[in-house]
Amino acid sequence: MSKKQLRIGMVGYGFMGRTHSNAFMQASRFFDLGYKPELSIVCARNRERAQAFADQWGYGGVETDWQKLVARNDIDLIDIAAPNDMHHDIAIAAAESGKMVMCEKPLGRTATESRAMVDAVRKAGVPNMVWYNYRRIPAVTHAKNLIDSGKLGRIFHYRAQFLQDWTISEDLPQGGEALWRLEKSVAGSGVTGDLLAHCIDTAMWLNGRIENVTAMTETFIKKRKHNLTGQIEKVRIDDASAFMARFRNGSLALFEATRFARGHKALYTFEINGENASLIWDLHDLHRLQFFDHHDEGTERGWRSIHVTDGEHPYMDKWWVPGLSIGYGESFIHQAADFIKGLDGDPATPTFADAHETDLVTDAVLKSAETGQWEKP
Ligand SMILES: NC(=O)c1ccc[n+]([C@@H]2O[C@H](COP(=O)([O-])OP(=O)(O)OC[C@H]3O[C@@H](n4cnc5c(N)ncnc54)[C@H](O)[C@@H]3O)[C@@H](O)[C@H]2O)c1
Repeated sequence: MSKKQLRIGMVGYGFMGRTHSNAFMQASRFFDLGYKPELSIVCARNRERAQAFADQWGYGGVETDWQKLVARNDIDLIDIAAPNDMHHDIAIAAAESGKMVMCEKPLGRTATESRAMVDAVRKAGVPNMVWYNYRRIPAVTHAKNLIDSGKLGRIFHYRAQFLQDWTISEDLPQGGEALWRLEKSVAGSGVTGDLLAHCIDTAMWLNGRIENVTAMTETFIKKRKHNLTGQIEKVRIDDASAFMARFRNGSLALFEATRFARGHKALYTFEINGENASLIWDLHDLHRLQFFDHHDEGTERGWRSIHVTDGEHPYMDKWWVPGLSIGYGESFIHQAADFIKGLDGDPATPTFADAHETDLVTDAVLKSAETGQWEKP
């Protein structure tokens, strides 16, 4: 059967530009899809660097202005792998020109921005998705399946952390290429929108909607040199953010993210405790799921470590043989494959509307840190 064309226009060739390009290239090799993704055009402001990326990854051409990319009639899907301040305008223009849109997280710098993006894709009726890729690490998907099967029973607690240590030095500047995450006007917020957004997306996928939150944030380094102005300027993003939450199902939660946890590079962990069973997952050991089942025989009861590499585990029948693990990059391949499968069936999630729910929670977290009150998303 001949496959339909899916011509991709990628905005950005940085960290995510690479993961997405790899995902589209590999998706149709490992998964049986009705479409064949084609790396058509990559867009970035610097033509030489964009061309070098296009040559390396096999893109057919480059654009240096995203508006020209969006206006082209030889592109089916716009994929936004650019910093957060670009998401809103590009996504809305892409939807208005009738193109499918995939966008990196957080969907908006604020929930107000992402609301407008949801409205635009709805009005245009175009397929859309946000790259909350951790859902598609097989051990995380397996956790979802175990929870949905009822094995854990009533849920009491959820805990998540995302710890890094790369901004501890006072000498690290803010702003400009590579350091846009430290500049509020570009990033929207600090670790709340960058790291906690991942934790919140996974949490609501596994455990349902969040009812309310109470939070604290801190900016440990108050002033940093700005890369673009050369001046010492106030830092307006949160370096650390922690919040308590109540889920609508009555369970309680603790969330924490920081870029000041010396020794941790990308330690994303979550734990969920139910009346019958508990689960723990850790990004540094991403193919394992720790599982405790109270229904096990008393003398043998204990935490077991499930090596999520069996053919019966999510996605794993498409990879090597049982016992051999896959990694971070494959979660993006799974997401691209699911998005493409969803074009001919039930749309894959998280859609823009789902990611907007996460933005509502991050907004509530930042508001609560200011007001000192419990806030509702
Ligand atoms: N899903 C995840 O796990 C994950 C991980 C990292 C980043 N992200 C998200 O991905 C997005 C990009 O982050 P990154 O780490 O790849 O950043 P990056 O700095 O590595 O790359 C950003 C890219 O955007 C391009 N760009 C900037 N301004 C542009 C413009 N005006 N027109 C065209 N291109 C432009 C840059 O040239 C660069 O190629 C952000 O929204 C970030 O939050 C998600």
